[in-house]
Amino acid sequence: MGWFSVAITSISLLCVVSTVSGIGANWGTQASHPLAPETVVRLLRENGIQKVKLFDADYDTLRALGKSNIEVMVGIPNDMLLSMATSMKAAEKWVSKNVSTHISTNNVNIRYVAVGNEPFLQTYNGSFLKTTFPALQNVQSALVKAGLSNQVKVTVPLNADVYESSTGVPSGGDFRADIHDLMLTIVKFLSDSGSPFTVNIYPFISLYSDPNFPVEYAFFDGNATPVNDGGTSYYNMFDANYDTLAYSLQKNGFGNLPIIVGEIGWPTDGDRNANVEYAQRFNQGFMSHISGGKGTPMRPGPIDAYLFSLIDEDSKSIDPGNFERHWGIFTFDGRAKYSLNLGTMNSGVLVEGKNVRYQERKWCVMKSSAKIDDPNVAPSVSYACGLADCTSLGYGTSCGGMDARGNISYALNSYYQRQNQLDSACKFENISTITKTDPSTGTCRFEIMIEPYYGGTEHMIPESMDFSQVCRRS
Ligand SMILES: *[C@@H]1O[C@H](CO)[C@@H](O)[C@H](O)[C@H]1NC(C)=O
Ligand SMILES: *[C@@H]1O[C@H](CO)[C@@H](O)[C@H](O)[C@H]1NC(C)=O
Ligand SMILES: *[C@@H]1O[C@H](CO)[C@@H](O)[C@H](O)[C@H]1NC(C)=O
Ligand SMILES: *[C@@H]1O[C@H](CO)[C@@H](O)[C@H](O)[C@H]1NC(C)=O
Repeated sequence: MGWFSVAITSISLLCVVSTVSGIGANWGTQASHPLAPETVVRLLRENGIQKVKLFDADYDTLRALGKSNIEVMVGIPNDMLLSMATSMKAAEKWVSKNVSTHISTNNVNIRYVAVGNEPFLQTYNGSFLKTTFPALQNVQSALVKAGLSNQVKVTVPLNADVYESSTGVPSGGDFRADIHDLMLTIVKFLSDSGSPFTVNIYPFISLYSDPNFPVEYAFFDGNATPVNDGGTSYYNMFDANYDTLAYSLQKNGFGNLPIIVGEIGWPTDGDRNANVEYAQRFNQGFMSHISGGKGTPMRPGPIDAYLFSLIDEDSKSIDPGNFERHWGIFTFDGRAKYSLNLGTMNSGVLVEGKNVRYQERKWCVMKSSAKIDDPNVAPSVSYACGLADCTSLGYGTSCGGMDARGNISYALNSYYQRQNQLDSACKFENISTITKTDPSTGTCRFEIMIEPYYGGTEHMIPESMDFSQVCRRS
């Protein structure tokens, strides 16, 4: 083939993506060393990610998203639901400060407000059952009052456990009995206000919490025995779960309510089933699964979804499990963890974070003269792990193969880096020392943190973006 036909081929490839609905990503910021918002926005744009879901409405984050044209879902955290529910004024202030201002002065393309985040999770013991719906109503009224209700839609990202199937197959789907009436009230309200239902679907969690869960059924290319639902075969858990919701909605008279998959993804560390191989298999499988716009048996057509997550967050609570800090398709510093074709770029590969500035290349490790049975070891390790992040240690994790000294060094170093390499953070008496030799081994990385982000404009990175490669929807 001569160069001419090559050129024609690449032109015809140029906008195949315009026929699929783009993929979104969740951008959480519970990190000790978050990337500058400008760096993250550039990461989103250079990867052709056209929709982002936030968990709050941080000013710097939204300002950085201004003029990017990326569609934004801003979030109201659960701990604000009570005030939104009980005070119309509070809801109006929230909308004015966190939606109206950003749309009118910062040019942010805000499209959704997420009212709460998985507020009906059973681990919350019903704490948000009474406040979620009134908060939803008040925020919607505030949007109407601000003249934004056509452009900005309310929704409530819910955990997939708000519905269940009495028969074990999707057609048996209905809302959980203990919250059935509440769910119908919310669903009717969403329907009346032209808003979508948002659900988070996690095959990984099913696998994590049920040792008998068939591993292959979690994936899209698996050879699991299909689930037969009255002649319809379900080959993967995602389709079955999504359709259980579709049936739940249909059964209650809302068969056409749009569904958004608010979170979907797979973690890479912190559990024996959380690794790069499975994460890549799941996320690439998902991207390929939805890329044809085929949908599920109950809901043919494009699937609107947000990957969880864009970047790792090393300060997330590990109550749900050690994997919680490892959901990113990118590491905390914007490196791609594995190859992933999002279908948004001609290149088909992830573009990494640019202009990331690291701290010095030095590490805090266990002294070679120190003894493992030194009485200072155990309290030092538990102190370090308590304040830093040791979730990459443990059975089947990226650092799970190390010996005891390696373990101890990992913990001390994690604390030292978290403390921005303060000399005083590597003064564990008689056991620690600073080294310039990278102690990383095999899959286990002894991280160096990035320069802390202090907010505002002082750390803004000069923009010289090249978006010519990004294939955008026109
Ligand atoms: C706007 O959102 C931020 C971040 O979530 C929050 O801290 C702040 O209280 C909100 N502003 C108002 C007026 O509610
Ligand atoms: C829920 O209840 C359990 C058992 O009573 C308790 O241990 C837990 O702390 C509670 N969680 C919340 C979020 O209130
Ligand atoms: C290293 O630490 C992990 C997690 O705390 C533990 O499971 C493992 O047994 C330790 N390895 C050694 C050799 O002490
Ligand atoms: C450190 O080592 C020295 C010399 O062996 C010893 O005298 C001292 O008590 C040790 N410090 C601690 C806190 O164990």
